[in-house]
Amino acid sequence: MNDQSFVLENSILKVSILSYGATISSIIDKRLQRELVLGFNEKTKYEASDKYFGCTVGRVANRISYGRFYLSQKEYRLPINNAPHHLHGGFSGFDKKEFSCKMTENSVECTYLSRDLEEGYPGNLSVTITYALHDERLIIKSRCLSDQDTLANITNHTYFNLNTDKKTIIDHNLKIFADRVYPVDEFGCTFNQPFSVSKTPFDFTDLRPIADILVSSHPQITTAKGLDHHFEVNGEGLRLSVILSNEDISLSVYTDKPGVHVYTGNYLNGEDIGFDDAAYQKQCGICFETQYVPNSVNFDTTIAPIVKAGEAQEHITIFEFQQTSKR
Ligand code: BGC
Repeated sequence: MNDQSFVLENSILKVSILSYGATISSIIDKRLQRELVLGFNEKTKYEASDKYFGCTVGRVANRISYGRFYLSQKEYRLPINNAPHHLHGGFSGFDKKEFSCKMTENSVECTYLSRDLEEGYPGNLSVTITYALHDERLIIKSRCLSDQDTLANITNHTYFNLNTDKKTIIDHNLKIFADRVYPVDEFGCTFNQPFSVSKTPFDFTDLRPIADILVSSHPQITTAKGLDHHFEVNGEGLRLSVILSNEDISLSVYTDKPGVHVYTGNYLNGEDIGFDDAAYQKQCGICFETQYVPNSVNFDTTIAPIVKAGEAQEHITIFEFQQTSKR
């Protein structure tokens, strides 16, 4: 059925999911009575925006250089929707698709069948995104299955802002469990080699203000107009990747994916008017896009998100919200 909205709710959180883009449209902390994400009340605003608010991104998150890759000795050409590169699955990625959703007691399951050569990608790919609420945790599971070898690097693109007013995230604190980060080109495309964060502004291995990096003159920060980089998360399996906090609440992001792309909303420009008529300005939200290394199909196929025909790719990401002080 088309165009649906679902609510997952317990005594701590109230989470709204749209079938359009399998989008997280709202996360309300009931203890603080506070919205924690950027979003809209109207579906038309999600349709009109090109900023990927809360949506599921796919088939392949982030950029593929010059919209070109090789798989099984065959060259594929993808639409260039973010010149000169291909971004977030193309002109009509998963963010613009109607998922078919069903609700159980504490979860919403959203499915979509992406047909062979949709936005240039090979294989009929069936995708399931499941959102489940457990106490302070929103658990996101993804599952992909294809009838041909293909690529799938699916993530969620929620912009978080833990403050009551959604003016900026510059005053939040950040910890990233990563010793290495990948560089980007002048158009935001990831390339090899990852470099050590040690003795650079990218060192968030201890909790510190986001402001520190956003004012830095490091060439990678000026190139990307802020933080828009893929961090290789230390360790393997389901583990903590990021902690974001303000004075009264923290968000912990767990994932079993190889890394997390941290994006400080550098291209938000006030055009999107969201909850409480707030104009979403540059750096008023931050995304933690758990994923495989962007563009890796073009520089290291051993780490690329290749889905083999008939073999499911499954992942889990958890957003956990903890109150850090009693008001
Ligand atoms: C990317 C940015 C891009 C943005 C679009 C992010 O995931 O890293 O470079 O501009 O999505 O909303």
